[in-house]
Amino acid sequence: MDKNFFVWAHRGASAEAPENTLAAFTAAEAAGADGIELDVHLSRDDVPVVIHDSTVDRTSSGHGAVARLRLSELRRLDAGSWFSPRFAGEPVPTLEEVLHWAEGRLRLNLEIKEYAAGQAILKLLPLYPRARILVSSFDHKLLAALRRLYPELPLGFLLDSVFWRGAVRRAVAAGAESLNPREDLVSRPLLAACRHHGLAVYPWTVDALPRISILARMGVAGVFTNDPLRVLALRRK
Ligand code: G3P
Ligand code: MG
Repeated sequence: MDKNFFVWAHRGASAEAPENTLAAFTAAEAAGADGIELDVHLSRDDVPVVIHDSTVDRTSSGHGAVARLRLSELRRLDAGSWFSPRFAGEPVPTLEEVLHWAEGRLRLNLEIKEYAAGQAILKLLPLYPRARILVSSFDHKLLAALRRLYPELPLGFLLDSVFWRGAVRRAVAAGAESLNPREDLVSRPLLAACRHHGLAVYPWTVDALPRISILARMGVAGVFTNDPLRVLALRRK
């Protein structure tokens, strides 16, 4: 595997620590990951927060929709105990906290889960000029809108359907850096089209090392994995 093969820690090192928390991000850095993928929603009072689901039920001690909870309420939740008692009291991070932490460390892939959160991040990013960012979303209209407002913003177009040609077209039109397909959607024609247009390909989410080796040989630029430590051991061989 090429030493430039890019290892994104999916929701942080989420095999080792509770996803989308600073514990998982610190573990990703300790593992030597090149970047961290995280998911962004908005609280009721419009603060971008780092959590995957639209409700807090699965990954915290609370209940209800993220969009119905104020930041002060979200901050009282325990986002660690569901994973292991070792992480009891781990909070739901704000995006600002993570941007501050990541500056000078590793790259962040902000996956925007809702349209309004996309607008909100544009207010935050100028405050953290040293943060290295890739913004991605399944909402390609949102990405195109962000590109118009912030022309130098690096974009990754997420793909979870077999209709990849349209996604490649939209990514190229928006001047994106990458196409981020579900890993089973990677094919030689898709890779050839992306190579032709200068788009990097980062598939998600892959933990099986034999599959990662195959994808690397096919020519993807990197992968999203829950277990960066194991993947990086493969890269060092
Ligand atoms: O960004 C890649 C991947 O995170 C997309 O799916 O559901 O894990 O956010 P999901
Ligand atoms: Mg995600």
